[in-house]
Amino acid sequence: MMHTTTIQKKIAVFASGAGSNTEKIIIYFASHPSISISLIVSNKANAGVLKIAATYSINTLLIEKEKFFTQNAYTDELKNLGIDFIVLAGFLWRIPKKLIEAYSNKIINIHPALLPKYGGKGMYGHYVHEAVIDAKEKESGITIHYVDEQYDHGNIITQIKCSVAENDTPDSLAEKIHQLEHQFFPSTIEKCLMEQKDSLTL
Ligand code: GRF
Repeated sequence: MMHTTTIQKKIAVFASGAGSNTEKIIIYFASHPSISISLIVSNKANAGVLKIAATYSINTLLIEKEKFFTQNAYTDELKNLGIDFIVLAGFLWRIPKKLIEAYSNKIINIHPALLPKYGGKGMYGHYVHEAVIDAKEKESGITIHYVDEQYDHGNIITQIKCSVAENDTPDSLAEKIHQLEHQFFPSTIEKCLMEQKDSLTL
């Protein structure tokens, strides 16, 4: 007799900061039938995201520079934990080649602007919104994309726009963009995983 069983997909979220996106992602997948948030990875011991992980009882991994960039990039640890997919939600280190090769097409990032504009090294947080306002852009938004070895560079999955009003400040724009991120990031992650979904025939 043939049974088809859905394999549980395990996500690791990498974050360096407050973790508001991570929290939305945790809540969104809390009772998902085939996707779970299994691990929160951070490079900062005092990052707010680690407190969020504790609140929701999710395992954490604090990573250090030397091992990430010059040794195994934590690929063995992630594979041993059964991690299938990696989501970068405000993670500020570039992803090393070893990790990209180990998770080919399985790492996605969110960027708070419409790439390819306002991306690259040093373009994060308020720097992005200041640059958008300084350039008198009429619109900004979010970009969700696959990750390659260059900052903010891989194939784009989706972009969602918002208008930039004349009286917008970097702070008010950041607020609008955070709302877009919270609204669209979790469901976009789900879509990516569902497209890659494996099923096991027993
Ligand atoms: C988000 O704006 C994201 O686009 C950027 O870093 C920020 C993280 O915010 N890459 P939070 O820590 O999820 O609140």
